[in-house]
Amino acid sequence: MHSASRWLFVLLGLSLAFGASAADDPNEKAIKARRAAMTLQSWYVGPLFQMAKGAMEYDADAARTYAANFDAVVKIDAAAMWPAGSGNDAYEGKTRALPELWSTWPEAGEKAQALIEASSQLAAAAGDGLDALRSKIGAVGNACKGCHDDFRADKM
Ligand code: HEC
Repeated sequence: MHSASRWLFVLLGLSLAFGASAADDPNEKAIKARRAAMTLQSWYVGPLFQMAKGAMEYDADAARTYAANFDAVVKIDAAAMWPAGSGNDAYEGKTRALPELWSTWPEAGEKAQALIEASSQLAAAAGDGLDALRSKIGAVGNACKGCHDDFRADKM
């Protein structure tokens, strides 16, 4: 290749790198991933709340399956989805995560751990009858709320 055209390719590569769209921002990717993980958690735990409330008929097999999958999602290693500097102060309109999540660390980590514990107990009990499900679901709801109250903005 001619050295002049080689330079052209180098320059083209540089301009692509610097002109990268917002979608290539690793923090934005992380924000999307963590919001997707939250949505998945809701998807699996939602029917369990419905069953506990009596809004959906209790079914032991379904409850066990939902709880097992919920537990699996809760336990994924999501640490890299929460990079420092990706709060709603820097990414307004893209995330509801409050900067306090990082500035008060490890509080949010402790709240995540509380959810893991509540979810383990729910997974162990959900298939053992409606009363067993009801006895464990409250702690899960409190774990979600406990973290959202402190670390999630009301609005985007
Ligand atoms: C350790 C803290 C923490 C726990 C525990 C937690 N959340 Fe979240 N959740 C957040 C934060 C922070 C956000 C905002 C994320 C963002 O916008 O980047 C969020 C966002 C969400 C969203 C919105 C996703 C979207 O796309 O708008 C849903 C739904 C959600 N959480 C459900 C749950 C449920 C259900 C539970 C409990 C089973 C739960 N969360 C437990 C911190 C937590």
